[in-house]
Amino acid sequence: MDSIEHTKQIFLGNYQIHDKLYYSSNEDLYQLLDHVDITNKKVLSVLASGDQYFHLSERDPRIIDTFDINHLTKYYFYLRKWGIIYHDLYYPNVFSNETIYSIIKEVKPKDKNEEEALNYWERYIQTFYSYLTNELIYLGQDPKKNEIKNLRRLKEYLLNQEFRFYHMDISKDVIDDKYDFIFISNIAEYYVLNEKAMNGLSHNLYQMLEDDGEVLLSYVIEPRSSSMEVKCFDNFLVSSSILDNDGDRIGKIYKKRNVNKK
Ligand SMILES: C[S@@+](CC[C@H](N)C(=O)[O-])C[C@H]1O[C@@H](n2cnc3c(N)ncnc32)[C@H](O)[C@@H]1O
Repeated sequence: MDSIEHTKQIFLGNYQIHDKLYYSSNEDLYQLLDHVDITNKKVLSVLASGDQYFHLSERDPRIIDTFDINHLTKYYFYLRKWGIIYHDLYYPNVFSNETIYSIIKEVKPKDKNEEEALNYWERYIQTFYSYLTNELIYLGQDPKKNEIKNLRRLKEYLLNQEFRFYHMDISKDVIDDKYDFIFISNIAEYYVLNEKAMNGLSHNLYQMLEDDGEVLLSYVIEPRSSSMEVKCFDNFLVSSSILDNDGDRIGKIYKKRNVNKK
């Protein structure tokens, strides 16, 4: 379906889970990422609001590839990138169509992906000018906690890096590549009653991970362990749990089990 037609269906209330966009991450990315060292590493991350990508980029990885089941996340990423580059705003007020317009009117696309994203937002403004963008974008609870510290550095990174995105369902699809570090935001929590999807997720993560790599799973819905996850992540070993200040688990780091055994 054409992306604008798809967006229209969201405005009309005909949407599935994961069709809407997240304005910001609802996780504490500083707390989560302080538990890993991704310097010079090849990283795969869910794209979501883009916050994960922006925060990972602060930590000097070699490469960040991104994926999401929702292809609109790619367009939202570019809108945020342009907000940062042209307006010095990490979280622009994307709920105002005037703001979206003021951002996109500055853009001179550098490649096909930017052209496609610009075309989406131009058509978006033409089609939905009188609608409220909060029909499309969920406002997070506390975006400020993920405000980036060094915007100038992020800007440099965004100007110089090629952005790579895979539109895929990670419980079903794999990328034919290997990563040192994979970050998936609370996706596993959606599969606590779906063994096929949880198994697929675990299998695909294993497949895409280097033998000495790490996967960071974060949790926002349920701080206790899901028995489905424990059952399906049998090929992995938990190297550490990440707790918040109240002692609730907000993340878990997995490594491959028995990689050196024949
Ligand atoms: C699980 S949601 C929840 C928000 C998350 N806690 C955050 O801070 O961004 C995060 C992203 O995962 C994506 N997602 C969910 N299930 C997925 C799947 N099976 N494969 C790929 N992406 C998925 C959603 O589209 C959304 O953009």
